[in-house]
Amino acid sequence: MAHEPQNDWNPLNEESLRDQRQAYDEMRERCPVAHSKLMGWSLFRHEDIAAVLADPQTYSNVSQFMAIPNGLDPPVHQQYREALDNNFESEQMSKLEPQARKIAADIFESVLVADEVEMVAAFANPFTMKTLCALLGWPENQWQYFDRWVQDSLKASFNSDSAAGKKLANDFSEQVKNNLKKRRTSPSERGDATDSLMNTVVNKVQLDDDQIVSVLRNWVAGQGTVAASLSILFMHIAQNKALQNQLRSNPALIPAAIEEILRVDGPLVFNPRTTTKDVKIQGRLIPKGEHIALMWISGNRDPRAFDQANVLNVERNNVDTLVWGQGAHVCQGAPLARLEMRVAIEEMLLKTKLVELGKKAPRRAVHPSNGLSELYLRFS
Ligand code: HEM
Repeated sequence: MAHEPQNDWNPLNEESLRDQRQAYDEMRERCPVAHSKLMGWSLFRHEDIAAVLADPQTYSNVSQFMAIPNGLDPPVHQQYREALDNNFESEQMSKLEPQARKIAADIFESVLVADEVEMVAAFANPFTMKTLCALLGWPENQWQYFDRWVQDSLKASFNSDSAAGKKLANDFSEQVKNNLKKRRTSPSERGDATDSLMNTVVNKVQLDDDQIVSVLRNWVAGQGTVAASLSILFMHIAQNKALQNQLRSNPALIPAAIEEILRVDGPLVFNPRTTTKDVKIQGRLIPKGEHIALMWISGNRDPRAFDQANVLNVERNNVDTLVWGQGAHVCQGAPLARLEMRVAIEEMLLKTKLVELGKKAPRRAVHPSNGLSELYLRFS
């Protein structure tokens, strides 16, 4: 019988639920390779995470369910990845930018009338999901479906509720397939991402509907991460007046500020891998076939990799950042995420003189997210 490793920690313990950053900082120093029932082997150090990312043969990303392209290993992974890259090229992003800016401006216009605004529900969620609808050329009112789907998926994952997860997967598939069906009944070259996905060919075979559903599951989840990131970015800008003034007087610093804030305060808790052979990390033996969790938030705050790692420094050289991952699976949607976050911050600063935290303190989301569940802001 396989020997069950002893658990070193519980990712849902009180410390983690209170403040994931602090809890993971502590784990990184005390127990950098830690086993838990929920996540398998969590890696907290930057060097260990980077080593895993650089060796996809030993650390497989193949998933139980179809996930394109992230649930594939090289060399098959590359074929799908390259076929999908065109959706995030600069031409596509330039075409999307005015639409994303209008979505942001319209939402700000409607929310700026109140004294205090809860920005997660009022801005981050609708902005990201409406922008996705624009990219796909789908009716804007579908944003609510995708928003709900992300929230319910996080809940199902927190509760390890596989029945709810399965139902969500089926609903999502139906929603996407209905859109594809409509597109087929009134075909026209619109040049949007739906056209592009329906015409994607890998190894001379066109993507089928189930494969497109799998690609889009990833994109919608990615937009959920953008929404979580926006809540974190807005909070830092509201509570750090010096940073806010710096960005107001020099908006060209916004992209660097985004990278640095998300390095110090990451939106994404972890991504998994599976060992394809026995390995030793920080002296601990991890057998073949075990689950590994790459703890992004902790790796990005590792003082061995970044000078004064927990201090926000917009001028920092962030070449070693793990915000987007590294290697074969580095975030494919990063150009879209960066565009959305820049546009949202630019519009917020343009339309206001001062952004401050509201009276009600920000509330953190809990595992498996690290965005905010509530962020009240005041605008002048
Ligand atoms: C601020 C927002 C985002 C962050 C911080 C983020 C972060 C990441 C990270 C860390 C990975 C690597 C995962 C791994 O190695 O297992 C990844 C992969 C990926 N992301 Fe993102 N992501 C964001 C937004 C998005 C968006 C908006 C999309 C698409 C619309 C997207 C699509 C993907 C895809 C398709 C992959 C898998 C790439 C592959 O396997 O080749 N992401 N992301």
